[in-house]
Amino acid sequence: MAVKLNSAYLKGFINEGELSHVAGACRAAHDALHNGTGAGSDFLGWLNLPSDYDKEEFARIKTAAEKIRKNSEVAVVLGIGGSYLGARAVIEALKGSLYNSRFKPEIYFAGNSISPAYMNEILSLTEDRDFSVVVVSKSGTTTETALAFRVFKELAEKRYGSDGARERIYAVTDKERGTLKGLSGKKGYETFVIPDDVGGRYSVLTAVGLLPIAVAGCDIGAIMAGAEEARRELSEPDLNKNDCYKYAALRNILARKGFNIEMLVAYENSFTMMNEWFKQLFGESEGKDGKGLFPSSAVFSTDLHSLGQYIQDGSNIIFETVLRFKETDSDFFLKDDAENADGLNFLSGRNMSEIREKAFQGTLLAHTEGKTPNIVLESPKLCDFELGYLLYFFEKACAVSGYILGVNPFDQPGVEAYKKNMFALLGKPGYEAEKSALEAKLADTEVNAHG
Ligand code: PA5
Repeated sequence: MAVKLNSAYLKGFINEGELSHVAGACRAAHDALHNGTGAGSDFLGWLNLPSDYDKEEFARIKTAAEKIRKNSEVAVVLGIGGSYLGARAVIEALKGSLYNSRFKPEIYFAGNSISPAYMNEILSLTEDRDFSVVVVSKSGTTTETALAFRVFKELAEKRYGSDGARERIYAVTDKERGTLKGLSGKKGYETFVIPDDVGGRYSVLTAVGLLPIAVAGCDIGAIMAGAEEARRELSEPDLNKNDCYKYAALRNILARKGFNIEMLVAYENSFTMMNEWFKQLFGESEGKDGKGLFPSSAVFSTDLHSLGQYIQDGSNIIFETVLRFKETDSDFFLKDDAENADGLNFLSGRNMSEIREKAFQGTLLAHTEGKTPNIVLESPKLCDFELGYLLYFFEKACAVSGYILGVNPFDQPGVEAYKKNMFALLGKPGYEAEKSALEAKLADTEVNAHG
């Protein structure tokens, strides 16, 4: 198994026998998932995606990516939530967090906020430079993305004319429904499909993730191959032989003991956006019906100098899931310094990876002694194939964990609440009654607060 779980640092927090108490629930979760009998079973397309994907579309993704790489200095990818996090996470994990300073085309993600300042920054980056636009939205109606698309579509049409813009705009959306699909048909944009049975946060291995990832020059064939190996290996129903299920079970046990915050920790700066992808996957999947672990994240050793104090010494509500990549292709050798003014010659002749390993070991010991349980997940290395494996590992762990918890891991009813309020306050037609009620509520709240 490419991702191995090391439970040695749970000693004192979880007893041997406890895993067997959730083995039944875990088996039931496996059966519900594989037989399609659990909640949200209309959204299980991701389960077999690594073997069962549209090969013709996969080839088109590669061709489109190649075209963008040839004709664009900048690629603007528009999408929010599951429609952008996976792509950005994989690109940064594989190409580094400084991708845009080192590689072409530069890739910027927009349509994921309502910040006018950010919009203006991205627009300025397309000035005098050739650009393409990839717009990703399953519904086609998400305000943040649709707003940004309106701006970039107009810019492309102004710069290249409608025929030229058609050659530079790509839409990833529903197969047949939705505003974006309709508009793409009318304008003649090349489109890619988000399958009906794949929800946003489980869509990184569809065109949603794969098109931008291929634009960055990553090997999407290797990513799919890694995910396929995970799909095969992680279909084992017995949690004692399946580390993905063991992980799902352990996090549930820890939550029942009051460790309600999971902190995903990696020792690579380039993993920062993978942490964000993880947080969306688990947060949106499990946080409902008054339940769910709160997903958080850190990059060490950076955050040992910010969150480290709390983890070591604060409330005992956190457990850590620490990722360890065993090998690195990019090491750094520390030379001897004749003056040794900094007193660091005791590190000379070693690789930086060795120093990091000691930081990893020392932190594990310190944090577990500080009453923070640690699950360690070991992956051979951070490369296209192994990352594909890891993506699938987390998706499946999330689904199984959600079923063990007793929630539907494939819906997100809570996300609608802010949208309804925002539309009403903005005066969107159809929300007139809500508008006055909300405005009255806001006024009341202000009066009560300030007198
Ligand atoms: O995971 C999800 O389902 C969400 O985060 C969606 O991806 C997000 O809300 C964007 O939706 P859409 O693709 O319809 O624009």
